[in-house]
Amino acid sequence: MSDAKKSDVFYGADAIARLDPKKLGELAEASERGYVADEGELPKAIASWHERMRKVLEQGQVAVVTVGDDKEVVSMAGFRLIGKTSDGCPVYEAGSSVTLPEHQKKGYYRQAMERIVAEIQKKAPNAMIVRSTWKSGSKEREKTVKDSCEAMGFQEIPPDQYAKYIGKTWEALSEEERQGYLEWTYYQLDLAQ
Ligand SMILES: CC(C)(COP(=O)(O)OP(=O)(O)OC[C@H]1O[C@@H](n2cnc3c(N)ncnc32)[C@H](O)[C@@H]1OP(=O)(O)O)[C@@H](O)C(=O)NCCC(=O)NCCS
Repeated sequence: MSDAKKSDVFYGADAIARLDPKKLGELAEASERGYVADEGELPKAIASWHERMRKVLEQGQVAVVTVGDDKEVVSMAGFRLIGKTSDGCPVYEAGSSVTLPEHQKKGYYRQAMERIVAEIQKKAPNAMIVRSTWKSGSKEREKTVKDSCEAMGFQEIPPDQYAKYIGKTWEALSEEERQGYLEWTYYQLDLAQ
């Protein structure tokens, strides 16, 4: 991480103002390329990324990391409220996590994520933050997400726990719905711990 450039972190409206359609396109491609097994699936994956991003911008917030004097956006993390624990603590989903390929492994994502965690902590010190990754993506991606989650203190949780956060009871789910949840790996960071 020694070759990291001078960076700045922006949050909220200041962050969103830096995300023009061209930059969002770059981030979407960086996120989804390598995730999909075959190139033909890329447009659909990118469209789905934009849909998730739209929800984050409507219902949540983002932090972006810029480098250099011209403040080029190189990394981003977002979150939105998705549910609550059985004790009534808010559960936020962290997503839209991406660093442009040429800027990866320089600590920029950590900066974005730490800002997100700090902002959630201000809202609710007892919040739970969850992240998820699709098991059928590339194995390399799965490992990157696992390692980056663990580096940030997240721990893996079973799918039924995630389902509970969003108001679903595992026993009441259909077999098909359960299979849907089982296609993902879930991680959580408990701010109260
Ligand atoms: C995952 C991703 C956002 C990490 O971004 P990054 O800027 O390279 O991450 P950082 O340099 O800030 O690293 C943060 C921590 O994660 C770990 N990490 C990051 N990438 C890793 C990798 N490929 N393998 C293992 N560990 C990794 C780092 O060791 C670091 O821990 P440390 O601070 O204790 O050393 C980036 O690889 C990416 O955009 N990947 C494609 C999209 C993606 O997978 N998004 C996540 C979807 S949930």
